[in-house]
Amino acid sequence: MFSGEKDITGSRNVIHVTRYTLYASCVLFLMILVMAMFSFPGLAHAQLDCKKCHKYMATKKFVHAALQMGCESCHTEPHQKQSKFPKGLSSAVPDLCYGCHDKTKFSMKNVHPPVAGGMCSSCHEPHTSDNPKLLLAEPPDLCFTCHDKNVFSGKKVVHAPVMGGMCASCHSPHSSESEKLLLSAQPGLCFNCHDKSKFESKIVHAPVSGGMCTSCHLPHQGDNDKLLMSSQPDLCYNCHDKTPFARKNVHAAIMMGCTSCHNPHANKQKFLFEKGINNVCLTCHADIRSGHVLAGHPLRGRKDPARAGREFSCASCHDPHSSDSMRLFRYPAGTTYNLCKYCHTVNY
Ligand code: HEC
Ligand code: HEC
Ligand code: HEC
Ligand code: HEC
Ligand code: HEC
Ligand code: HEC
Ligand code: HEC
Ligand code: HEC
Ligand code: HEC
Ligand code: HEC
Ligand code: HEC
Ligand code: HEC
Ligand code: HEC
Repeated sequence: MFSGEKDITGSRNVIHVTRYTLYASCVLFLMILVMAMFSFPGLAHAQLDCKKCHKYMATKKFVHAALQMGCESCHTEPHQKQSKFPKGLSSAVPDLCYGCHDKTKFSMKNVHPPVAGGMCSSCHEPHTSDNPKLLLAEPPDLCFTCHDKNVFSGKKVVHAPVMGGMCASCHSPHSSESEKLLLSAQPGLCFNCHDKSKFESKIVHAPVSGGMCTSCHLPHQGDNDKLLMSSQPDLCYNCHDKTPFARKNVHAAIMMGCTSCHNPHANKQKFLFEKGINNVCLTCHADIRSGHVLAGHPLRGRKDPARAGREFSCASCHDPHSSDSMRLFRYPAGTTYNLCKYCHTVNY
């Protein structure tokens, strides 16, 4: 019979007959063994090499270290119909896993629903896998088996780590002390990758010091540059009253973005400026010099007589945002000379 295998020129029939005979003898052998096992389970298991029949348990790229501790470390009653837990396990998943893995990591304040439901097997193979950490699939595909993929791709701007499928660089798959299973709270989470020093300075924007990065940025993807939740200036109106920016004459600079003057995060000077107010204005109005108001008006180095506590600057006469008057005058004035009276008793 077995000579058929050596017969390279032989017909298919010969080979088939050979295989079937082999299969048949294997099945027969198995049946006898299984029958033997079921009749003397305790005795059989102590002597059986499980891997003889269950080879595939350890054939993939990554093997659960628990296998080295013996199949019996989990299957205490294999092949027994009356076993207390399915598949002859010593206890049900997840308790089985907690026998060796520290449960505290899986029971912090916020628990991922599939973990809370004890569904370790919805993400992990118990024996062997081609993916690291014994995963059924690698993130993000693993995550997309339950979460809608479209929430994380397809828009104009996708956050680099999301694009790279690094969900676990921000989220714990199991449980966390932070909201939304984040590995740590904001802004610390973001500073794992973004230079913290850019967000620290003399003046820090209140939502930044409050760690509310996602009050302006979407964490995954969005349709605006820099992952902003809405485009400027609307973004800023989510918190700042729009009225001062929407009077009759709006400064053309507003449409260029609030951040053409203010840093959204932190900066050296009051009002989140890089430099003093006058120098901010002069970046676009380089031609304006002290001579621009009639007799050569002083433009800096004084106190603003009309607004207590503020330095005198371009913004003493002009509203940098919008105004109901001509030339963005801060005070109601139909002509240039109407403006003077708000600070001078002399009639110019
Ligand atoms: C002689 C071959 C053979 C050996 C040796 C063997 N098994 Fe099995 N085992 C089988 C067969 C056949 C089945 C039933 C087919 C199936 O369910 O996949 C099975 C089924 C199982 C099952 C699934 C039971 C269920 O409820 O679905 C587990 C768990 C198991 N074996 C564990 C072990 C462990 C642990 C060892 C070593 C102690 C072992 N087996 C040794 C042949 C063997
Ligand atoms: C870390 C614990 C653990 C170890 C160690 C372990 N198993 Fe399992 N095994 C499980 C769990 C959990 C299941 C049930 C999987 C499921 O239902 O999705 C299982 C299921 C099985 C099954 C049923 C078929 C299947 O794939 O679902 C067989 C057969 C089996 N194990 C054999 C073995 C053998 C043989 C060994 C040793 C080489 C072994 N197991 C070691 C946890 C373990
Ligand atoms: C008998 C002890 C034991 C049991 C029970 C056990 N494990 Fe493990 N597991 C280990 C050991 C040992 C390691 C390797 C050291 C480590 O990473 O903690 C490990 C590692 C892992 C890893 C990481 C693998 C890697 O490549 O880094 C995962 C995932 C895992 N186990 C999941 C499970 C799941 C899910 C269960 C329950 C079905 C479970 N384990 C039950 C002992 C066990
Ligand atoms: C939603 C999917 C998911 C579920 C459910 C899940 N895990 Fe994991 N697990 C992961 C991912 C993803 C990793 C890899 C994390 C990483 O790479 O940082 C992991 C890693 C691990 C590790 C390796 C150690 C570590 O923290 O990196 C162990 C052990 C583990 N899981 C055990 C379990 C146990 C036990 C359960 C059930 C209580 C479980 N997991 C449920 C997705 C899951
Ligand atoms: C087996 C299904 C399943 C898988 C796989 C899965 N999740 Fe979830 N996840 C859920 C369910 C159910 C919820 C609760 C409903 C919701 O928010 O969509 C949830 C919620 C979340 C939440 C919000 C938690 C909160 O407190 O609001 C985050 C974050 C999350 N999952 C991340 C992930 C990541 C990252 C992965 C991949 C590593 C993943 N999930 C894989 C089922 C799953
Ligand atoms: C750069 C960090 C980061 C990465 C990478 C990341 N997330 Fe998130 N994710 C967050 C933050 C921050 C939140 C909370 C948003 C909030 O509170 O407004 C969140 C919320 C979630 C939620 C809850 C949804 C909701 O609206 O409440 C789910 C689910 C989620 N993420 C899944 C994923 C998945 C899946 C991936 C990988 C494809 C991923 N995340 C990658 C930071 C991240
Ligand atoms: C795992 C690393 C990582 C984490 C954590 C992370 N980022 Fe990023 N982020 C990047 C990388 C990489 C880029 C692309 C390179 C760059 O612009 O610096 C990026 C870019 C950005 C951009 C600019 C996008 C663009 O279109 O130019 C914003 C805004 C951003 N991240 C905000 C955040 C916020 C808010 C958090 C915290 C919730 C955060 N990031 C957490 C890695 C990370
Ligand atoms: C008040 C809204 C707001 C808050 C809060 C905020 N950002 Fe931004 N962020 C912006 C705006 C607006 C831009 C775009 C600036 C520009 O285009 O000049 C930006 C740009 C960025 C960029 C891209 C950097 C660059 O120069 O291109 C990163 C990274 C970033 N923010 C991270 C963060 C992190 C991390 C936090 C929390 C610590 C945070 N942001 C909080 C509004 C905000
Ligand atoms: C042309 C430059 C410029 C632009 C563009 C600009 N600002 Fe300003 N902003 C200023 C100056 C100058 C001050 C200080 C005015 C003063 O001294 O009263 C200021 C002050 C502020 C203040 C503090 C108000 C107070 O008096 O306490 C807020 C809030 C503010 N700006 C928000 C915004 C928002 C929101 C936008 C976009 C809609 C914006 N700014 C666009 C120049 C600008
Ligand atoms: C999530 C809410 C929020 C958003 C969005 C927001 N701000 Fe603010 N901003 C605040 C709070 C709170 C303060 C402090 C109280 C105040 O002065 O009104 C503040 C203060 C300021 C100040 C005065 C800073 C100082 O202390 O000198 C400026 C300038 C400013 N914001 C500009 C902006 C600009 C420009 C945007 C849009 C890019 C913006 N803000 C978006 C909440 C926000
Ligand atoms: C980012 C560029 C930019 C900055 C910075 C800037 N401006 Fe302007 N400003 C403009 C543009 C553009 C116009 C419209 C074109 C013009 O009339 O020259 C304008 C017009 C004006 C006008 C004339 C309005 C009118 O109705 O005739 C005044 C007054 C003015 N700006 C004051 C200021 C003051 C005060 C500052 C500093 C707080 C400032 N600007 C900062 C871009 C800027
Ligand atoms: C003392 C009040 C006052 C101060 C301070 C002041 N301006 Fe003016 N500005 C005026 C008046 C009045 C006009 C109208 C002049 C005219 O129409 O002849 C004017 C007109 C302008 C105009 C539009 C016409 C033009 O000349 O281009 C711009 C732009 C301007 N100022 C910018 C600035 C800047 C920038 C500063 C700070 C460096 C500044 N102003 C400081 C009162 C002032
Ligand atoms: C927002 C307040 C303010 C407005 C409006 C204003 N000035 Fe002045 N002006 C001042 C301050 C402050 C000084 C410096 C006074 C000092 O040095 O004690 C000054 C000084 C002067 C001087 C120099 C003489 C002196 O007293 O030192 C002249 C001339 C002058 N202003 C004319 C005008 C004219 C004309 C207008 C209307 C076009 C005008 N000012 C509008 C605040 C203002």
